Amino acid sequence: MVMYKLIAFDAYGTLFDVYSIGTLAEKLFPGQGKALSLLWRDKQLEYTRLISLADPNPLGSQHYQSFWDLTIAALHFSCAQLKLDLSPENESTLLNQYAQLDSFPESAAVLEKIKTTGIKTCILSNGNHQMLSWANQSSGLDQFLDRVISIEEVRQFKIMPSSYQLVLNYYPIPKDQILFVSCNAWDIIGANWFGFDTYWVNRYQLPFEEIGKKPKYSGSNLNGILNYLDTNQSTLQ
Ligand code: LAC
Repeated sequence: MVMYKLIAFDAYGTLFDVYSIGTLAEKLFPGQGKALSLLWRDKQLEYTRLISLADPNPLGSQHYQSFWDLTIAALHFSCAQLKLDLSPENESTLLNQYAQLDSFPESAAVLEKIKTTGIKTCILSNGNHQMLSWANQSSGLDQFLDRVISIEEVRQFKIMPSSYQLVLNYYPIPKDQILFVSCNAWDIIGANWFGFDTYWVNRYQLPFEEIGKKPKYSGSNLNGILNYLDTNQSTLQ
């Protein structure tokens, strides 16, 4: 069994439940909620990749915009493409929902259990600190996390190596003592390529990507992580 000293979590869709966005979108735009939430998420991520690909400088992309700004831009684009009339009220209702996400039912208990073993926990997210702080507060997860790391600090999005490197800047330990957890297969690939062991949260029984290394572990929710922790290990000071 590997002696992990740190578990680093992706945020959106991994610890925080983004499902409520689709439900709300369906209420505001009946029959189009699913299409809107899928396109919104895809665009938001596509914008992060454009920004990092165009200027992969590890000290930051000159095109950097915060994940919150990209979230707003992606919402505007998605409504325009789907020909949905986004009133200012609907826009602020959707964005408020994004700012006040709940966690998944098991998120808090799993983080709390990890905490009792002495293993450290952190978030590594594309989200900027402001939006992560909103979500941490609304979900109540902040009390169980040792640190919240945002790629905002390096102005390069995942899966740029400099984004994963941030974790090592805060926790200078061998990479193989870190388990990276994400619901996003692309994030698992990036973390694997960087050198972390990975746990893929596959809530919707999706196939894994056809490139990259498969995750070391996977499960349908976060609970499975606990099976892979050596709870008798010495802890990180
Ligand atoms: C994150 C998104 C991409 O938290 O899930 O980084």
